[in-house]
Amino acid sequence: MSYDLIVIGGGPAGYLAGERAGAAGLKTLVVEERFLGGVCLNEGCIPSKTLLHSAKIYDYARFSEKYGVTAENVAYDHAKVIKRKNKVVKTLVGGINAKLKAYKVDVVKATGQILGRSSEGYQVAAGDQIYTGKRLLIATGSSAIIPPIPGAKEGFEAGFVVTNREILDLEEVPKSLVVIGGGVVGLEMASYFNSAGSKVTVIEMLDHIAGQTDGDIAGILLKNYQKKGITFHLSAKCTEVKSDGVVFEAGGRQEFIAADKVLISVGRRPNTSGIGLETIGVELEGNAVKVDEYGKTNVPEVYAAGDVNGYSMLAHTAYREAEVCINNMLGRRDTMRYNAIPAVIYTNPEVAGVGETEATCRAKGIDCEVVNLSMRYSGRYVAENEGGDGICKVLINKKYRSVIGVHMIGNPASEIIYGAAMLIESEMRLEDVKELVFPHPTVAEIIREAIFEF
Ligand code: NAI
Repeated sequence: MSYDLIVIGGGPAGYLAGERAGAAGLKTLVVEERFLGGVCLNEGCIPSKTLLHSAKIYDYARFSEKYGVTAENVAYDHAKVIKRKNKVVKTLVGGINAKLKAYKVDVVKATGQILGRSSEGYQVAAGDQIYTGKRLLIATGSSAIIPPIPGAKEGFEAGFVVTNREILDLEEVPKSLVVIGGGVVGLEMASYFNSAGSKVTVIEMLDHIAGQTDGDIAGILLKNYQKKGITFHLSAKCTEVKSDGVVFEAGGRQEFIAADKVLISVGRRPNTSGIGLETIGVELEGNAVKVDEYGKTNVPEVYAAGDVNGYSMLAHTAYREAEVCINNMLGRRDTMRYNAIPAVIYTNPEVAGVGETEATCRAKGIDCEVVNLSMRYSGRYVAENEGGDGICKVLINKKYRSVIGVHMIGNPASEIIYGAAMLIESEMRLEDVKELVFPHPTVAEIIREAIFEF
């Protein structure tokens, strides 16, 4: 069977590319070996947010005396939460299926393997069929890294060690959970299992949590979670996974922590092997498929989008990269920009940021000015966050007087940050931002407050 486009991988990059290509009239095939929606929808963004929402309701029910609300006999049913999570995922996967169908996109559930190229196009084996595509889009995503720590692989095989995939399906809340890696996955899961009743310990190699997040914000998040009872070992290296716990090294000392489960969340690696990229000579950069700003690889009519290119392993980046690829395939020039991609950590409180941080400005030699404002300047925040210690930082480029970064901790930062991304993407100058009207009372007004401090 011949197609205008074969998409390998049905995650956010792959399914969105399928939808856009189908809508534009390209005869399209999406090959997906597991489930449409990929990691994001099946074992990442959506399931974790479903779990975290239940945890948030539970926390509100238990800790709302300060708002004048008390409740008795509040119980948490993890099994029911997981059941609901599965229902949410099923509904959304069904939606993707329906949309692809509506755009007349074919979907094959099989592992796609590139076999080579002929005068007709690229051959891709999937199941017991061979398909030909005039164009290819590689959207095979990424996989959780299991580092070469002694005992980690064996622990994983025994089910004692889990990744983002297995942890979302645990039937019971473990009494104790050790999280190796205090990045996004580690923190969101630490947050969930702390609320759900586990004794959680996070082991992080760096001297701070939350990776590239603004340092002050990461510090506030750390304090919030220490207050909630999570133990953090920073500048700590896990050296061994035993059958009943984890050994780590910090400050020249070795320690053992017992655990019922261990989550490994030390990053992800692009899925580039075993799909036949070498048969057509696709160039890699490290582990990732090398692409230009149009999403093109070094091979004609072969594109790549999403985690597989290793640039910014986020579903929303993948969506935009997929659109850029499809637009260029259709002859509409479109380029990918990475300067205004929001990053969110869906802990409670939420963390969100976009654009430059003080650290990246220093590294790039950008002369920036920073305003750091307490979220308590927002009336809505004070009304809804008793005792909240959130902050909002706005960075401007001193030379151009334009907004280049916004970073915040405090609810609901995740829902506000896109507005900041728009200011950055459109290179708005302070004077123009000052003319914008923000609805009152909203937490988003904190950005307006900060802007008037310059
Ligand atoms: P990550 O890169 O965010 O964090 C990994 C952390 O593990 C780092 O802080 C690193 O220093 C630490 N680490 C590495 N090796 C270690 C070791 N041996 N011992 C102790 N610590 C160690 O990776 P993570 O959390 O696994 O997330 C993977 C990807 O998924 C990220 O690219 C992230 O952007 C994406 N993601 C995004 C979410 C969101 O947008 N809310 C949610 C979940 C994942």
